Amino acid sequence: MDVTIIGTGYVGLVTGVCLASLGNKVVCFDIDRDKISKLKEGRVPFFEPGLQDLVKEGMAKGNLRFTVELSDALQDASFVFLCVGTPPTEIGSADLSFIEEAVRQIGLTLDHDIYLVTKSTVPVGTNRRLLSLVSEALEEVGRDPRQIHVTMLSNPEFLREGSAVDDFMKPDRILVGADERWGADILLRMYAPFECPKVIMRLESAELAKYTANAFLAAKISFINEIAEIAEKTGADIREVAEAIGLDPRIGSKFLKAGIGYGGSCFPKDTRALYQIAGSAGLDFHLLSAVIEVNNRQRDRFVARIRETLGDLTGKKIGIWGLAFKANTDDVRESSAIDIVRRLFAEGADITAYDPQGMESARKMLGDTIQYASDPLSAAAGADALCVLTEWPLFRSVNGVKLAEVMRGTHVFDGRNVLADLRMETYGLTYHGIGLCKNLPL
Ligand SMILES: NC(=O)c1ccc[n+]([C@@H]2O[C@H](COP(=O)([O-])OP(=O)(O)OC[C@H]3O[C@@H](n4cnc5c(N)ncnc54)[C@H](O)[C@@H]3O)[C@@H](O)[C@H]2O)c1
Repeated sequence: MDVTIIGTGYVGLVTGVCLASLGNKVVCFDIDRDKISKLKEGRVPFFEPGLQDLVKEGMAKGNLRFTVELSDALQDASFVFLCVGTPPTEIGSADLSFIEEAVRQIGLTLDHDIYLVTKSTVPVGTNRRLLSLVSEALEEVGRDPRQIHVTMLSNPEFLREGSAVDDFMKPDRILVGADERWGADILLRMYAPFECPKVIMRLESAELAKYTANAFLAAKISFINEIAEIAEKTGADIREVAEAIGLDPRIGSKFLKAGIGYGGSCFPKDTRALYQIAGSAGLDFHLLSAVIEVNNRQRDRFVARIRETLGDLTGKKIGIWGLAFKANTDDVRESSAIDIVRRLFAEGADITAYDPQGMESARKMLGDTIQYASDPLSAAAGADALCVLTEWPLFRSVNGVKLAEVMRGTHVFDGRNVLADLRMETYGLTYHGIGLCKNLPL
């Protein structure tokens, strides 16, 4: 099938290369010329395991190409996937200006029937509005929207950065929102190789389902973080509690890791957007507002603990391990780590950080406010305290003896509990995890 991707970011590029690997002819379009010129040379502009090889493979087979010309991107398109960003506005609702502009441009350019498939996460009612926008744009250039048929489909994406290719190729489920079943059925033919539940529903249900999924997962994280505080104050250990409840299949073991809270380009914006969606429907989503508040409080608590332990942070040297919002990605958008670094900097700390993949993207956000190290031990060298902010497995392999040697102080604040079972005390270090019991396990 002939597929066009509009917006070649994390979701768009992964969708494009994966559909190309299934034998479809894919053209990826983006307004970011720099991104497209890198991709034309076979270079992936961000870190995502497995993606680089698939880009090269798709290009070599002639199934994948990149363009900045919309007319070129649309000329043979049957399926047009909308994958542009829907970032938060100042009040937390989804900023739809990028997707609306993309759709308007499609309407101004289009000269044949297409299936217009929204992968971007958009508030309830958006797909219907996008369809009107295409019609208006078609009319603007003198084309009759009754002659050029656009079938609107919602196909929310559930991939996770860090395992995006795998998630796309082995999905838990595929949702298609549509007005009529036949349109959804045609899109599902493209997903025929995937053996998973494929669910067709109303456009509005598909839109709401995406936000609900992210809000529910965010709620699990905030819930376990609140329990972690109780554990810490009562002598329980959050890892044991999480294991115990996670064995219940009604609960499940995922998203039950206590820490400095969720971040990234989806959970923070999607929880806030769902709160706004509820508000626009005249509802006050109390539970979700608590989820968001608890998440912010985790960061406050973490910084407060450092301050209580070290005293005034002015001039204190702090080493940071991890800047990305989670392991296996270079994405620092709304990263809890970046927020904590900013707060420590605002309190006068002298910060040196290391992240295996996120240094370049972090530098764009933090600039020269901090120093950047080339490895974990250099980030910790001379530090009064070390903070672990992203759960990269690499941090577990750092030699504890050397770590204690290079640090000036002894405090290790682990915001992800990655070093929790490494007995840091045996190296003379003072370990502070989240929701952990200090006594040895049974
Ligand atoms: N990143 C994820 O893990 C993830 C997972 C599921 C869903 N989503 C959703 O998918 C959408 C895209 O997210 P992302 O992380 O891939 O964003 P991204 O910022 O990585 O990519 C968006 C791309 O859209 C391009 N763009 C903006 N306006 C455009 C236009 N008018 N025409 C063409 N391209 C345009 C940008 O240049 C950028 O390359 C969002 O709605 C997000 O919520 C993201």
